[in-house]
Amino acid sequence: MSIEPVQLDLFSPFQELELPEKSIHPRNYKQILRKLLSEDLNFHSENSTYATHNFHAFPAKFPPQLPKKFIVGLTLPGERILDPMSGSGTTVLEAMLLGRHGIGMDIDPLALSIGKVKVTPVDLGKLISNGKFVIQQATHALRFKKKELETALSGRFDPSTKKFVDYWFLEETQLELLALIRGIESISDHSIRRFLEIALSSIIITKSGGISLAYDLAHTRPHRLSNKAPRFAIDEFRKRINKNLKHMSKLAWSRGRADLFCSNAQTAGIADDSIDLIITSPPYAANAIDYMRAHKFSLVWFGHCIDFLGKMRGDYIGGERTHNFKMADLPAYAESIVSKVSEKDHKKGNVLRRYYTEMTLSLSEMFRVLKPGKAAIVIVGSSVMRGIDSETAKCLCEIGKTVGFDIVDTAERKLDRNRRMMPARKNAQPESQIEERMHKEYIIGFYKPK
Ligand SMILES: C[S@@+](CC[C@H](N)C(=O)[O-])C[C@H]1O[C@@H](n2cnc3c(N)ncnc32)[C@H](O)[C@@H]1O
Repeated sequence: MSIEPVQLDLFSPFQELELPEKSIHPRNYKQILRKLLSEDLNFHSENSTYATHNFHAFPAKFPPQLPKKFIVGLTLPGERILDPMSGSGTTVLEAMLLGRHGIGMDIDPLALSIGKVKVTPVDLGKLISNGKFVIQQATHALRFKKKELETALSGRFDPSTKKFVDYWFLEETQLELLALIRGIESISDHSIRRFLEIALSSIIITKSGGISLAYDLAHTRPHRLSNKAPRFAIDEFRKRINKNLKHMSKLAWSRGRADLFCSNAQTAGIADDSIDLIITSPPYAANAIDYMRAHKFSLVWFGHCIDFLGKMRGDYIGGERTHNFKMADLPAYAESIVSKVSEKDHKKGNVLRRYYTEMTLSLSEMFRVLKPGKAAIVIVGSSVMRGIDSETAKCLCEIGKTVGFDIVDTAERKLDRNRRMMPARKNAQPESQIEERMHKEYIIGFYKPK
């Protein structure tokens, strides 16, 4: 087993940039925002895998050019850019690469780990030697200490988690994963350990279900393919490390800063009037993208219990649990959409009400932390509930106004479903109006008046 030496190509991300060197006159700010929103925001033909952006698959991940456009157009180096639902950290990484201070928060443990790895430069020499060590240890354990591995595997999980693991992973794959994880757990450097964990996770969570028996971890509920021949985990891990190492070499050049922490977007622990720009994309309503459904496939290997992960799922914005949930009063249009859904299905109506309640709180927090005279760029898609379009963009504009924002404009972009992990509805008629809308997302320019 070998890890190829990395060619450091002395690339600097700054070679590509045109940084605005002078600040925007406050009088022109809204005009510039409107112009940015009127430009092409599709970026389908552009490379989205530079720097560390491609370390790990993530549902509804931004193309990096999307946050980059607004960061370059609306902020100066050193300014603070927040993504309160940062997912895999695209906004935070772009902010850092552009010499700004990116701040991200999320409640999903895997999202936070992915984001942290993507923005933390590590010593490449140490990474290579630690990667080699883990692979050698795992190979040795599989060859000569199989019994010991089997005993460790039988005691590793609680009964529910074991049931889940046994259903989705062949026993030989379980042993390979455990051999790798034991090697990773023995590494003392926290950043290197996390880098290796994320490399391991990325061979489990792939569109094709990676080394598990899942057919698809991106679009649908995962289906188990009992005749799938999963690949050898150690080879996949080695390939992935080599790939990520090359990209990691490009991070060391960044002049910016990045901080990511676990926090709820509805109660962000950030000072009033302290952020220069927000760029974020909240979850879809009604759990249309269920992050935990895929993430649990790798989180169980890092010490999380399946029952606990199942409970956490209810805490995500857009979750379906409504019992004892304190609902907000909604403005007229959002209320009318909720009522339409409720007439068809009372429970689903409550789920949508919960979503708009959570988004009211999130938008209020964004308004509180943003400096006056600055913008929040919020990217959303619609969900379809009992045949009714949730009209998320329109409702969020209305809610945004109630918390104090001006709406500068709303732009549209087409989703590139080949590239992003999105909730594609496989058998839907592509020409239907609602399907047409599901293939779009909306970029709302909120402005906090001075
Ligand atoms: C659409 S994804 C963000 C993707 C991100 N733009 C990227 O490029 O990777 C939405 C994120 O919101 C997070 N989220 C859900 N509920 C949250 C909450 N209450 N507070 C903070 N983040 C939350 C989810 O875990 C998920 O990572």
